[in-house]
Amino acid sequence: MPVRKSTDSPGIRGRLERAAQRVMKNAHAPYSNFHVGAAILLTNGEIFAGCNVENASYGMTNCAERTAIFTAVAELGPKIEIKAVAVTNDHGVACSPCGACRQVIYEFGPDATVYFQGSSGPKQAHITELLPEGFRLQ
Ligand code: THU
Repeated sequence: MPVRKSTDSPGIRGRLERAAQRVMKNAHAPYSNFHVGAAILLTNGEIFAGCNVENASYGMTNCAERTAIFTAVAELGPKIEIKAVAVTNDHGVACSPCGACRQVIYEFGPDATVYFQGSSGPKQAHITELLPEGFRLQ
């Protein structure tokens, strides 16, 4: 499938990845021992970051991507528009956003570019490639 090129400046992936790496250190991941960081770029130019926060009741875990997005909403309100997302992990392994996070990214970033580690190196994809037919309330 062709990868749609984003219009982001070449430096933006690096900036987002550095922000994601920084916040990854705060992850609460004693159950999986898999630390994840995510950073989002908003259309207003601001960057927010988040880490995964696990729970002894495993299903209560919040992924890094959703932590970043919910932090931005808490700070700026629900009108945020996500332009790009970067995800990183401390194992250096392939890690694209889970299905739940794809839906949450789509809610605030229907035109977002997502940067992540694919199975054979760094990848970028439009959110609609990762989440075809995403759900929206009309
Ligand atoms: N995780 C994320 O935070 N983001 C992803 O994109 C994939 C998975 C977290 C959830 C859980 O804390 C750990 O990674 C293992 O699944």
